[in-house]
Amino acid sequence: MRRVGGVVRPPGDKSISHRVLMLAALARGTSELSGLLTGADVKSSARVLRQLGATISRISESGVRISSSRLLTPSSRLNCGNSGTTARLMLGILAGQPFAATLTGDASLRRRPMRRVTTPLREMGADIKETGDGLPLTIRGGKLRGLTYTSPVASAQVKSAILFAGLTGKVPVTIREPYRSRDHTERLLAHLGLGIHERDGAISYRPSAVSIPSFNLSVPGDISSAAFLAGAAVLAEQGELLIENVGVNPTRIGFLVVLERMGAHVERVNLRDAGGEPVADLLVRPAALTGTEVTAAEIPTLVDEVPILAVVASRARGSTVFREVGELRVKESNRLELIAANLRAVGARAEVQGNDLRVEGGDAPPRGRVETASDHRLAMAFAVLGTVEGADVKLSERKSVAISYPDFFADLRRTHAPRTTHHAR
Ligand code: S3P
Repeated sequence: MRRVGGVVRPPGDKSISHRVLMLAALARGTSELSGLLTGADVKSSARVLRQLGATISRISESGVRISSSRLLTPSSRLNCGNSGTTARLMLGILAGQPFAATLTGDASLRRRPMRRVTTPLREMGADIKETGDGLPLTIRGGKLRGLTYTSPVASAQVKSAILFAGLTGKVPVTIREPYRSRDHTERLLAHLGLGIHERDGAISYRPSAVSIPSFNLSVPGDISSAAFLAGAAVLAEQGELLIENVGVNPTRIGFLVVLERMGAHVERVNLRDAGGEPVADLLVRPAALTGTEVTAAEIPTLVDEVPILAVVASRARGSTVFREVGELRVKESNRLELIAANLRAVGARAEVQGNDLRVEGGDAPPRGRVETASDHRLAMAFAVLGTVEGADVKLSERKSVAISYPDFFADLRRTHAPRTTHHAR
């Protein structure tokens, strides 16, 4: 019998951690942030901001102080590591700065598309030199013009880059997107009293005379990290897991919505607010699951949770289809192909059909070798599959989890102990 138990706190929300660091570096005065993610992606944002002249104390969960007056010309390339959020959001910030900077990243990040961000920033007047649709590229910002833009992809990174360009370039911007993506940037700008509005699904920023105030903020835990532990808890056979201090922003909780539709019950207790974001504790118990259809409109609300949801779906009764998940081809790895290939590698049935992913549920013990392609979310999702009864799942590597959840394996071990039950004869 696999048993789940105990209490766990996921690390700080990655999306919010990037945004608060960047906004604090743009603010006048000193800001204090607690609960920041200490993973490698957030350290990439801190490193880049330091190269631009911000003073940032060591990144820790307990408290980080940030002060800056104005951003300065960097003396070398800005290395964004593995972090797409760092690269894309910094492009927005740099569009409003009167100097040139070159951005690059690791091999995975250099392959990821940047034109979705450079196209609207060019329309605003930024001068961008690139050799293809990716990094490295050089941006020279300066005097910008306002922009009304309809994004072809539902991407919070695109939306946030344009909002940050409006903020730093002091010009009005309006963005429409096919489906609503995560709204952390909007909430933070509203929290800081800056001119952000929504009308009929269009997000607008209007510059005002007030400068960005310094602030103190506590970052909630990351629901995208909590999802792995919740998934493991649902797949266990006994016990319950309390996951404390999880951000439950409506644009991020698609994982919980789909899990509940599949038959799990996740209780949300102690609902509260942290810096304009809803936060709760989640109580998760094992459940028998049934396959479902995940619609295209739901995808932005669970885009990073497709790997763990697909793993969970492989243990459900019946099939699960994820509609329109082509975006997963351009994440930290080609997640779409790798989720399907890895599920097949451990004996499950899964296939990519156009831009849809179909997973057939079953109860045979998963056994085989998984290629993570150094993608943190693939490593964590398949580690969770390795906790089910009779499993023997070998990961090609484990250290990529340091990107978003450095203590993942320790938390998983502590909360999911296999217990052998002895039946009296
Ligand atoms: C993020 C947005 C999402 C998500 C990524 C973080 C953000 O990417 O996959 O992990 O912080 O804005 P897209 O905006 O490209 O969908």
